[in-house]
Amino acid sequence: MVEQVYTASTTAPVNIAILKYWGKRDTKLNLPTNSSISVTLSQDDLRTHTTAAASSSFTEDELWLNGKRESVEGPRISACFSELRALRKALENADAALPPLSTYKLRIVSENNFPTAAGLASSAAGFAALVRAVADLYELPQDPEALSRIARQGSGSACRSLFGGYVAWEMGVEADGSDSRAVEIAPQEFWPDMKAAILVVSARKKETASTTGMQTTAKTSSLFQHRINVVVPERFKEMSKAILEKDFETLGKLTMMDSNQFHAVCLDSSPPVFYLNDVSRIVIGLIERLNSLAGRIVAAYTFDAGPNAVLYYLEKDEPVVLGLLKAIMPSVDGWQTKPAVASIAAAVPEGLDDGVFEAIKEGVSRIILTRVGPGPLKSEESLVASDGSPVA
Ligand code: PMV
Repeated sequence: MVEQVYTASTTAPVNIAILKYWGKRDTKLNLPTNSSISVTLSQDDLRTHTTAAASSSFTEDELWLNGKRESVEGPRISACFSELRALRKALENADAALPPLSTYKLRIVSENNFPTAAGLASSAAGFAALVRAVADLYELPQDPEALSRIARQGSGSACRSLFGGYVAWEMGVEADGSDSRAVEIAPQEFWPDMKAAILVVSARKKETASTTGMQTTAKTSSLFQHRINVVVPERFKEMSKAILEKDFETLGKLTMMDSNQFHAVCLDSSPPVFYLNDVSRIVIGLIERLNSLAGRIVAAYTFDAGPNAVLYYLEKDEPVVLGLLKAIMPSVDGWQTKPAVASIAAAVPEGLDDGVFEAIKEGVSRIILTRVGPGPLKSEESLVASDGSPVA
């Protein structure tokens, strides 16, 4: 006889920081050296779908990712599992009628709706989905802020994916991490017209892992000290205010400056850490020129620990931004997923130098068109069958 299999399913979003997290003051708990701000992206385009299952018949904890079994041995997943089990145990201690799920092994089955090979940070959506799904399975009363403290231990930036819209990760000061958690600055509905275009730039070799890069920067860069002590605290206030005032001019300007400063402290590290490549730098030049010709911020670029460009812009400027991208790369993979933009005509603003178009076209393998979106959503679609087996 097969024992009962308890399941809960969720989807969780990707988030892209506009004020970057870079540096850990505690590597085990993933406590940052500065606060950060991000925009949560729509799950229509980028999401992780996860089912968490528990049963007395399971003999070990298991994790399945995109149809492949992965290890659960790492300290990050263990930290998430043990925190969630402890919270469930407290519920069971208070109510003897509850099934003892905290004593059962877990089976986590997870799928991304975007190619992992695209080099997009999928760990944020992955850990947010894992924590949300197990919390739902365990029927935990904890709110997203409390759950963000657990997801943070999986991957720092994952804590911000517990919320939709515009999200801050407050670094906190406590040694145990109890006050280092994500909070909502404003929900998606507050400023729904924020759009994003991701230019997937093929990397020649694997980049330095973010944890390694951060440690090198924190240990060796003197610019980094200025960044965390002076620049970020001020920028955090200005960017939060700009979001609440829907002031794209200020927000876009600071987003680009912060991306550039993050890559500057990487370069200031010893040995230096490089994430941008020639294509990234050409995109930076193009957007700077576009904004300067327009006399305002039409689009803002930002780059994480890799060469992909994320461009934020407002819906009203879509014809300008996508018109230009269409003129540069009319047939790149990705346009066909958005029939609504088919009517936008390719157009190059007067005065923009088209001498760099070829290099961008050559270097970008795919465009992902998306927008600000909600936090994790419950899903009725289970990736674990009633007999406990993963659904491929
Ligand atoms: O959470 P991690 O280890 O994936 O680090 C993320 C670091 C950046 O993406 C570069 C910045 C950020 O705030 O997301």
